[in-house]
Amino acid sequence: MDIKQQHNEMVGRMLDHVENGTTDQAEDTLTVPSAAYTDADIWQQEMDLIFKRLPLTVGLTNEIPEPGDFKTLTMFDKPLLITRQRDGSVRAMLNVCSHRGMMLTEEKSGNKGVFTCPYHGWSFAGDGSLRGVADAHKFGEVDKSCLGLTQLPTYERGGLIFTVLTPGLEVDFEAFLGGMIEDIEDLGFEDWYYCGQREIYGANWKVAYDGYLEGYHFAAAHPETIHPRTYSNIMDFRFHGPHTMIGFPQKTIAKLREVPPEDWWKYENDGYDFIRTIFPNVSIFVAPELTQIAQLIPGPTPGENRTILYYLDRKTPADDNARAELEKFMDWLKTVVQEEDYDVGLAVQKGLESGAHQNVVFGRNEHGNQYFHQWVNYYLAEDPEAPPPKP
Ligand code: FES
Ligand SMILES: [Fe+2]
Repeated sequence: MDIKQQHNEMVGRMLDHVENGTTDQAEDTLTVPSAAYTDADIWQQEMDLIFKRLPLTVGLTNEIPEPGDFKTLTMFDKPLLITRQRDGSVRAMLNVCSHRGMMLTEEKSGNKGVFTCPYHGWSFAGDGSLRGVADAHKFGEVDKSCLGLTQLPTYERGGLIFTVLTPGLEVDFEAFLGGMIEDIEDLGFEDWYYCGQREIYGANWKVAYDGYLEGYHFAAAHPETIHPRTYSNIMDFRFHGPHTMIGFPQKTIAKLREVPPEDWWKYENDGYDFIRTIFPNVSIFVAPELTQIAQLIPGPTPGENRTILYYLDRKTPADDNARAELEKFMDWLKTVVQEEDYDVGLAVQKGLESGAHQNVVFGRNEHGNQYFHQWVNYYLAEDPEAPPPKP
């Protein structure tokens, strides 16, 4: 089924839910042990079996559009260097010098043909190959071709850059990303304007991610920001492998009854909104004002995460004033997410760590959260015989 048809179907279900006072529901409620959010061993397993094995989003295409552009990013214990090549392709590598292990560059982003190590001055090309050994005649014989930066599998599609944090691990990016990346690709992010990024800090990565997967909390937690525009606790889900797309009807959605159903897909942000998530840690909220891509990075402890919020806009700002307005708006959005979602998450984390309850429970309405936790458990079980979770 093509993407427009998929969206039309979701809009049809959202309209029905609003008219009938219903929401998409899982078959039953789901109990998850509180320890899943607090236990250091479980957290370490998640890092080893999920975050170090699956494709992870590490940036946006239009963060580094030109040859020589680069960005750095540290995920857990892995410092990454991501560079745009002369042929337009992208490479993700470990940002670690092969001489004695110095971090090759501490700059967050820039444009460089050559990276020179600040410790003894070895130099590397943008593709990671070793260009020069400082004072080579004194150093002794080395095979430069074996001393490049450690390369990671890299994939770029739909305006997003993906890597796998384990060098040499063979991963089928396309199969993993499946229908979700086709949907994202349809948005054409690579032609949008990259506005910038912000960072926020919160609780355990799953506490934070849970917040992106349901609209049950809109009325109570977002009474002035989201709830005036969007219904609380009315959602429609579409699942693509482990990834989830969530439809949130706006209070104006009824007007779409006047629009032919085959055109409903044209009304994203004008009657309903979508959140698209990429398992395990990315949430994309396309909004009329500004699109926010949240990338959750677990750690440094089980009860913490750092989230990078990337912002994109369909149009390029006309002048400096417009750019300044954008900066202000990004600050405002960041503050809303920090105060209305992440601060709630930090309080949840304290509650979970208090030992007050053995378990938490997800309602039938929290279908997206249930599906997410089932996928986490699926990867932790490491059972090749086990069937993947069913939507
Ligand atoms: S550690 Fe990089 S040149 Fe010595
Ligand atoms: Fe929220």
